Amino acid sequence: MDKLVIRGGEPLLGTIRVSGAKNAALPCMAAALLTDEPVILENIPQVRDIETTRNLLAAMGAEVELGYGRAQHRTTIHCKTLAAPEASYELVKTMRASTLVLGPLVARCGHARVSLPGGCAIGSRPIDLHIKGLERLGAKITQDHGYVEATTQRLKGAEIVFDKITVTGTEDLLMAATLAEGETIMRNCAREPEVADLAALLNKMGAKIEGAGTSTVRVQGVTKLHGARHRIIPDRIEAGTFIIAAVLTAGDLNITGCDPQHLGALMAKLAEVGVKSKQNSDSVRVMGDNPLTASDMVTEEYPGFPTDMQAQFMALATQAEGTSIITENIFENRFMHAQELTRMGANIKIEGCRAIVRGRSPLSAAAVLASDLRASASLVLAALVADGETIIDRVYHLDRGYENIEEKLRGVGAQIRRIGEMLPRKAATPARA
Ligand code: UD1
Repeated sequence: MDKLVIRGGEPLLGTIRVSGAKNAALPCMAAALLTDEPVILENIPQVRDIETTRNLLAAMGAEVELGYGRAQHRTTIHCKTLAAPEASYELVKTMRASTLVLGPLVARCGHARVSLPGGCAIGSRPIDLHIKGLERLGAKITQDHGYVEATTQRLKGAEIVFDKITVTGTEDLLMAATLAEGETIMRNCAREPEVADLAALLNKMGAKIEGAGTSTVRVQGVTKLHGARHRIIPDRIEAGTFIIAAVLTAGDLNITGCDPQHLGALMAKLAEVGVKSKQNSDSVRVMGDNPLTASDMVTEEYPGFPTDMQAQFMALATQAEGTSIITENIFENRFMHAQELTRMGANIKIEGCRAIVRGRSPLSAAAVLASDLRASASLVLAALVADGETIIDRVYHLDRGYENIEEKLRGVGAQIRRIGEMLPRKAATPARA
């Protein structure tokens, strides 16, 4: 199993480029299930979750071609026939977002069988709202042997009101509604940029969607969707992680290829903490030479502060002067990184959904364990300012969502290396599955 070895203390200087958004790429890949024509996606990040989705689609009979050389971030997905509209437990257990295939499969094939996701490191994460929404669209749902099975002749448009805001739930039902008969109105939808990006692809495929990116989305169902070409939006969480890396190391980083409009809540919070930054249309420059002051933070659905940046913000709070109270409102158990940060010298107390971080604590290197994707990122950030050499175990969590993170950080001066078994990271030759 790979480990990262990081020697802290180097200011990060230079330019670092953001990859495409994993959380936009995953639903866009699932959207290819809705048509028998090829869908070409650009700016796909080379991360483990994309590989898992490729395997998931291939297992159903899709042809998934990965670009190589200069086109290595392009993928073409052709779901001409879908012999087995199924997502097995083996795949769903490694990536919960696999449940994104449920809506498109039942809409296209009239039948889908998808494993229910089990427990998760950050909370229970049920998919009851996906299931309830599909029932509203007329699907007959049964649950047996850990699988959910959905069948229908053709889905029928309906009004769906989400009891709770769910990102992949909104995406799943949005895809299903594109091929339903008549109009679907979805209320209390997730407003994340990734939902709007999926809708942009679906509209290019011939769907009739209005309002994606707001809380009310209207879909006029069509009988058929066609192929399309689409460029995935930049990864706002990766961008945010690099921004915090610049701040923590008192560096000066130009983070390019990002969309600052998607970073509003993070940049507003960082300004409160004392961070200086300049924004252009597709880049953010962060000058991390100011003293940092503590600030409370609450995670919320977009456009609020993202839960996917909470762990990284906690690493930052350990270096701010004063007490920061961090409240996690989206997931019930998303503070696993706190214990590891404490082992590195941070002063953090957990009280239910609140973490009380008292700064500023000098951090010292330790052997630490990554527990989930964003927790791993917070440990990398802490290690970049810790005194000595930190060893982060279970880096596979990081590989699920960060493309070549050690190469990117090394390029701006971090002392970081990977040890242990090397995972295949780039397709050297064209791959077909
Ligand atoms: C997505 C993101 C993830 C991010 C999260 C919240 C992807 C692939 N993943 O995850 O990175 O952390 O949004 O921004 O885009 N819930 C239910 N029933 C459901 C669905 C969700 O109760 O049927 C609850 C969840 O347990 C959670 C909350 O709703 O407490 C939000 O979850 P949701 O937005 O669905 O997260 P994901 O879409 O899984």
